[in-house]
Amino acid sequence: MTQKQKLVIFSGAGMCAESGISTFRDTGGLWEKFKVEDVATPQAWTADPEKVQHFYNQRRKQILDASPNSAHLQTAEFEKYYETTVITQNVDDLHERAGSSQVLHLHGNIRQAKSSGPNQERKLYPIEGWELSLTDTCDEGFPLRPNVVWFGEEVPMLETAAKIISKTDIFIVIGTSLNVYPAAGLIHAAKNDSKKIIIDPHANELNAPAGFEVLKMGAGEGLKYWRKKMENLF
Ligand code: APR
Repeated sequence: MTQKQKLVIFSGAGMCAESGISTFRDTGGLWEKFKVEDVATPQAWTADPEKVQHFYNQRRKQILDASPNSAHLQTAEFEKYYETTVITQNVDDLHERAGSSQVLHLHGNIRQAKSSGPNQERKLYPIEGWELSLTDTCDEGFPLRPNVVWFGEEVPMLETAAKIISKTDIFIVIGTSLNVYPAAGLIHAAKNDSKKIIIDPHANELNAPAGFEVLKMGAGEGLKYWRKKMENLF
């Protein structure tokens, strides 16, 4: 039995664009409608937890109403041919719902909650529906907050993600503007002799390092194109 090649998909909000979920920094994106400092920082939570809770409840509702798109499904399909790991900046569960079994969430998972008290990382609480209210509390009685990484907070899975990318044979970066560090720095974590591809309609405007094949396309189309090219190689 030959060893399967390792493949990593590193995805951002653009992965979900074709599911009808707005990205952050495209025209009409989330950060045009909301200020980061009002809804996505620990200070925002302290100042107005209701507003923060409402912001994430709206996003959770949109995610529950959305379905995985062709790019999510093609990503899940890679597991048949490659030892596949998805490393995503996205907080939705569309990769999992498409069938991907190895998904690492760098910025957390909006369908889980954690305590807003001192021992936040101790326990995760699944959120059944779309709404989390301030009356929902952890075992110690603190209000539950979304299990997402806010600006200024640590990215606990960063080290693990870098190690996985450093060992991969194929590294496909999809739908991220590479604006937010430290996650964006992972673009440099792949080894020189790995196959590196970046798929994004604005790929030519991104600061992708040398050695990346640049596919200026949407996620679904880009993966289809690349898979077809790979199939012709065998
Ligand atoms: N297919 C592929 N990529 C697309 C598509 C599409 N159909 N539509 C848009 N894109 C690309 C855009 O060109 C852009 O490069 O998706 C990228 C989205 O960039 P951002 O909105 O900045 O999203 P992302 O890079 O994931 O943001 C990173 O910032 O706000 C924080 O925590 C949040 O995880 C997020 C992080």
